[in-house]
Amino acid sequence: MEQKYNIVSLIRKKRERKSLSANEIKYIIKAYTHNEIEDYQVSAFLMAAFLNGLNNEESAAFTESMLHSGIIVDLSEIPGIKVDKHSTGGVGDKLSLILAPVVASAGVPVPMISGRGLGHTGGTLDKLESIPGFIVDMDLDRYKEIIAKHDLVLAGQTKEIAPADKKLYALRDVTATVESIPLIAGSIMSKKLAEGIDALVLDVKYGSGAFMKSLDDAIQLAETLVGIGEQFGKKTIAFLTNMNQPLGNAIGNWIEVKECIDAMHGTGPDDIMKLSNLLSGTMIYLGGKADSIEEGIRISEQQIQNGEAFAKWLDIVEEQHGDTDLIRNPEKYPETGHRFELKADQDGYINSMDSFEIGMASLELGAGRRTKEEHIDPAAGIMLKKKVGDKISKGETILEGFTNKADMIETVTDMLRGAVAITSEAPAPEPLVSHICDSEGTRAFEL
Ligand code: URA
Repeated sequence: MEQKYNIVSLIRKKRERKSLSANEIKYIIKAYTHNEIEDYQVSAFLMAAFLNGLNNEESAAFTESMLHSGIIVDLSEIPGIKVDKHSTGGVGDKLSLILAPVVASAGVPVPMISGRGLGHTGGTLDKLESIPGFIVDMDLDRYKEIIAKHDLVLAGQTKEIAPADKKLYALRDVTATVESIPLIAGSIMSKKLAEGIDALVLDVKYGSGAFMKSLDDAIQLAETLVGIGEQFGKKTIAFLTNMNQPLGNAIGNWIEVKECIDAMHGTGPDDIMKLSNLLSGTMIYLGGKADSIEEGIRISEQQIQNGEAFAKWLDIVEEQHGDTDLIRNPEKYPETGHRFELKADQDGYINSMDSFEIGMASLELGAGRRTKEEHIDPAAGIMLKKKVGDKISKGETILEGFTNKADMIETVTDMLRGAVAITSEAPAPEPLVSHICDSEGTRAFEL
């Protein structure tokens, strides 16, 4: 018989910096999954774990209990090496929507389980749901049916896959308990190990818009994630990527989908094209369709140029009941009631763009949630007209905002003004990707 514990004593123990046993951690995760303990108690536990950390034994128990809160999907009847990618979360990070169809069109099955917006970062599911009709919630049979038919599925957690993470993720989002290495590692790896993959590519972000602000913390997170993947027999490669400014130009939901459509036609912003081809290329390599990451990148570029990636995207949108007419004609999407611009108040160069503040500003415009129940406005968001290093003249537009919340425009404009610094000298360029981390260790990587 499984032991029961007093949750208040467990919260107190963690609050007092004592270690919990594996059984105590397992109890918390299981009891929460089965609604036997309350949101407010788990919130207190998460904050204590966030502030005082989890040791290696606690972290391993946390990931394992989340993984075993549901089933591990068996996709062995689907031929091929199944590969997925996951990002630790960023602002304007829409790459999953591009690389999933690219990689599937190259013959590598991609069973992708994604999350919703978390904190100041956007979520793949919210972006997909901005396509009218698109269904991300499905049962396991439908998940398997779609991946078997298209070599691709873009799903939310089914009730069978890491249900504990689904609940904890929503709670962490609204209790300021996201930025913790063991909590992030458990969340990501429980979903990924449960979804039926053979290999995994991770995009581990560092900088102002990432959950890990410093490169050192991001490397520690990458090494933890790769270690868990390899321990479960999944070939795992992580890249350390720069989130000191938003990725691409669009931040929101539908406007990010629109930018992905451009990328699938080969006309996305430079940083989007480079990073998505690197990650797709690595997935194609891990999927056994290329002999090296470089060859994988070439195949990825070719899948965009020959139109096969976009054709795969149309197939999956149609299969998951999304409106393909809007994907073909994105200009038909209904606009928000209000649009505003932020203009430069001096000549110079864009020196920095605080992606955390820009992510929060987009959330305030309606593109993210402040409570678990809040609905997202699919058309709200921010479009950058300039990026770090760009020259700008006084009066020129730095960015545009889109919202249906007229009363937020003034506050958000102030936030955005504070988030963008203009200087007379151009800043030194920063690399988009700094390191690679795999079973051989972590080393510098140049793109
Ligand atoms: N992505 C996840 O799935 N979980 C986290 O905790 C952070 C990013």
